[in-house]
Amino acid sequence: MTGTERTGTEGTGTERTGTERKRLHVITWGCQMNVYDSGRMADVLAPIGYAPAAVPDGADMVILNTCHIRDKAAEKVFSELGRLRRLKEATGNRMILAVAGCVAQAKGAEILVRAPYVDIVLGPQTYHRLPEMVARAARTRSRGNGRGAGVIETDFPPEDKFDQLPQSDAPQGVTAFLTVQEGCDKFCSFCVVPYTRGAEQSRSADSILREACHLAAQGAREITVLGQNVNAWHGEAPAGSSGAWGLGRLLRALAEIPGLCRLRYTTSHPRDMDDDLIGAHRDLPALMPYLHLPVQSGSDRVLAAMNRKHSAADYRRLVERLRAARPDLALSSDFIVGHPGETEADFEATMALVREVRFAQAYSFKYSPRPGTPAAGAAMQVAEADKDRRLRTLQALLRDQQGEFAAGCVGLDLAVLFTGFGRHPGQIVGRSPFLQPVHVMGQAGLIGTESIVRIVADMPNSLAGTLVEERRIA
Ligand code: 5AD
Ligand code: SF4
Repeated sequence: MTGTERTGTEGTGTERTGTERKRLHVITWGCQMNVYDSGRMADVLAPIGYAPAAVPDGADMVILNTCHIRDKAAEKVFSELGRLRRLKEATGNRMILAVAGCVAQAKGAEILVRAPYVDIVLGPQTYHRLPEMVARAARTRSRGNGRGAGVIETDFPPEDKFDQLPQSDAPQGVTAFLTVQEGCDKFCSFCVVPYTRGAEQSRSADSILREACHLAAQGAREITVLGQNVNAWHGEAPAGSSGAWGLGRLLRALAEIPGLCRLRYTTSHPRDMDDDLIGAHRDLPALMPYLHLPVQSGSDRVLAAMNRKHSAADYRRLVERLRAARPDLALSSDFIVGHPGETEADFEATMALVREVRFAQAYSFKYSPRPGTPAAGAAMQVAEADKDRRLRTLQALLRDQQGEFAAGCVGLDLAVLFTGFGRHPGQIVGRSPFLQPVHVMGQAGLIGTESIVRIVADMPNSLAGTLVEERRIA
C-alpha cells in the first residue's frame, strides 16, 4: 500500500473512500477478557476501515494482545514479535504492529526499546483510543524504513473506555462475552493482575444492560459476564430503579432480556460470593449450573501466605451453600502448587480438599515468580522438582474427577446450545450446561437453538449424544 493510502487511517477516517479496506489481524493470548478486548479493538478500528483478516501475512495492521499471568510472558512476546517483524518487512514495512494487553501494560517502554519496529504499545485501559494512536503512529513513522517514534499509551485514562466504544454491527456468535468489571484490589501474593489491570472498577449497570440487549439482538443466546473479580461487581441501579446492585441483581436483570437463554460469569473470588448471588443460582434457570471458583490451595497456611483472605473451611462451607442452592452445580477451580513455603503437608491438604469437594473441571499451575509481586521475593521458594511432582500428582487426581464427572453425564438428557459445525459431515457441536462440548448428528438449522440431547458417550474432552428432537427449545 502506498503512503497516500496510509493517510487514510489518519483523523477520524471519514476521508476514506468507499472500496478501500484495510486488513486487521489480532492475535489473542490469555484469558477470556483478552478475547473480549480483542473483539472490542476490532470494533473501534472498523469505522476507520479495518476489517478482520484470518492470517497476519500481508495484513495492514497486526495486534498482539498479550497475557502476563505466568512464566516467561515477556520472552514469549519478544519471540513472537521477531516473527511478526519478518512479516512486517515482507509488506515493505507497511504493516502497523501493535502490542496490547498486560505485557504491554507492564513492559511498555522496554518493548519499544527492544523491538523498535513496534508502532504502538497500548494497555488494556486505552484501546478505545486506538484510532487516534494509529493516526499518530502513521504521522511519526519516518517514511521508507517503517519506523516511527513508537506510540505508547499505558496510563489509566480518566474517561471510561466502555462509554467510548462503538456497538459492533457484526453478527454475534451464539455465545458472547461481556466485560462488566476490571481490575483487582485483592493483591494475592503471586498475582500480577492488580498491577497490570489496576484497581477494581465496575462498569455501570445501564451500559452493561444496553450491551447485553444489543448482543441478544445480534444473535447471542448465551452471555458470559466477565471480570477479573466479577463477583465484586457493584453499581448504581439503572435509571428507573433504585438502590445499589450487586452481581446477583445484575444477573436477574440480564435473565429478563428476550433471546438470552443462558448466563455464566467468571472469574469469582470466594470472598465475594454474597447471599444474593448464591440465591441467583437457586432462582434463575438461565444461570448455568457451572461455576469457576478458584481456591488455589487447600492449606490454611498457604492461603494466608497467598493473602487469599479465606480458609479452606470457608471454601468448603461456601461450596455446601452453593450446592444447596443448585444441587447439580458443577465446580471448576484454579490451583497453584509450590507457592513459597508450601510443604508436603500443605500439598496434602490441597489433595484432601480436592478429594472432598470434587471438581468437574480444573486448571492447575506450578507457582512461577512474577517480578514485582510479594511472593517472588519470599524466602523458602520450592524446588522445581518438588513442584513438578506435586503438579503431576494433583493433575492425575483432577483428571480422574473430570473423567468421572463426564462419565456421570452418559445416559442423561442435557440441554445443549448448538454453536457451530462439528469436524465430521452432518455433525453439529454445542455446549452442555456444564460447558462441555457436545457432538451430535443434526441439521445446520439447529445452530443457535437449544435442544435436548441424550448423552451416549464421553471422550476425554467432549461428549457425544443423540437428539431428542421433540423437546427442542426454540
Ligand atoms: N504462578 C502460577 N500460577 C499463577 N496464577 C496466577 N499467577 C500465577 C503465578 N504467579 C494462576 C492462578 C489464577 C490463574 C488465572 O492463574 O491460579 O487463578
Ligand atoms: Fe489475582 Fe488474586 Fe486478584 Fe485473582 S483475586 S486477579 S488471583 S490478585
